[in-house]
Amino acid sequence: MDEAAGSVVGRDRKPEPADPVPLHLLPQGCGVGRDGSLWIRGQKVSDLVKEFGTPLFIYDEEQIRSRARELKQLFGSDVAYASKAFLCKAMAKLVSEEGLHLDVASGGELLVALSAGFPSERIVMHGNNKSNGELELALSAGVGRIVIDSFNEIDRLEKLVKSGTRARVWIRVTPGVEAHTHEFVMTGQDDSKFGFGILSGDAKIALDRLKVSQTLDLVGVHAHIGSQIFSLDSFVKEVEVLAPFFASAGVEELNFGGGLGVPYVSGEPIVEFADWSRALKDAAGAAGISPSARIMVEPGRSLVAPTAITVYEVGTIKEIPGIRTYVAVDGGMSDNPRPVLYNSGYEVFLVEDVSARRDRRVTVVGKHCESGDVLVKDGQLPSSTKVGDLIATPVTGAYGYSMASNYNKVGRPAVVFVGNKGYRLVLRRETVDDLLLLDLG
Ligand SMILES: Cc1ncc(COP(=O)(O)O)c(C=O)c1O
Repeated sequence: MDEAAGSVVGRDRKPEPADPVPLHLLPQGCGVGRDGSLWIRGQKVSDLVKEFGTPLFIYDEEQIRSRARELKQLFGSDVAYASKAFLCKAMAKLVSEEGLHLDVASGGELLVALSAGFPSERIVMHGNNKSNGELELALSAGVGRIVIDSFNEIDRLEKLVKSGTRARVWIRVTPGVEAHTHEFVMTGQDDSKFGFGILSGDAKIALDRLKVSQTLDLVGVHAHIGSQIFSLDSFVKEVEVLAPFFASAGVEELNFGGGLGVPYVSGEPIVEFADWSRALKDAAGAAGISPSARIMVEPGRSLVAPTAITVYEVGTIKEIPGIRTYVAVDGGMSDNPRPVLYNSGYEVFLVEDVSARRDRRVTVVGKHCESGDVLVKDGQLPSSTKVGDLIATPVTGAYGYSMASNYNKVGRPAVVFVGNKGYRLVLRRETVDDLLLLDLG
């Protein structure tokens, strides 16, 4: 790889809007070539685009693996990757090879995992409204844990378990800790569609039922307090609230869910896996949780989000003097609905001139028939940006492709994994034929 150092924002001064994209937000394997263009693990990104087109998700496979290994080192094998963040067969195989567990939240996610050969005993089945069909599939596949979410589910699952067999389950509880990005609040009541409220007393009633169940073996307690959380205090509060309930359950497995945040834009903090692990374990010790308990986590975003970028081609540029410059690309809310759903921010940069000053304020929009189809509301690009250029948004590895849609009958993008030994297409681009497949005329 023809790699040279890109210009980096100095650590001693505050980042300015026109600075080049901060390289720490790009996948680990990225570098800048002598001609200023973006490379990833020996592959020139514009060459990948020539082969696979745009929009294109490009994942740094080595980085996913190294992040998975780091988690495994910190938590042992008691880490389940939350597959809702991004799932395909290649991803399931990777997670299996790295020895993690897999969290699925629907029959569809379960089937993808099984079709990739993921060991069923390492699968955790979630869902606040699992159908009987989904529960039967989980039972017949022999998934390791089914996470019980409601009283009705206890009734149904007890009936579905074949006579002479038993199913191992966790109870999902709502601790009443509501986590926001930088803070948490304790909610008076447990206003959530998920799980059994601890404060309302439902969790205790469910626990008493499960303890005497003839067909369900309660082996653990599960909770999840939110996503994109930077405040370790939120997790500490979760541990404190769960500790007495966990003790009363008399089980060994305690899963604190996922939720760790990652930086998407310049200036956002990085919380290391090691800090998360230390905070959870120290809090568990301080709350009197037995050292023999299995402390488990279920990260999605923090494992994969930083490992991918999405590359688009600029199709039109519309300048409205004194108001705004719209840069329109060939994707949009159909491949990344996060800005529309959560008002999420992203950085954006020129693929062929990564280190250029981004001196033009722009709004990057998609091609969909919605004024709200915005990818980057307050973005910066070099003023040289023109129609036909490739631009990219980093940190798109989680909840982008997995939340993709076919709005306006736009096909979902292709996804490429790049590793040290080359690259491979893991999800091909959706075609018009795919779009017509369901249409019976
Ligand atoms: C039960 C459960 N576990 C894990 C996760 C993963 O969360 P994150 O991607 O924020 O780590 C989620 C996300 O919604 C979840 O609902």
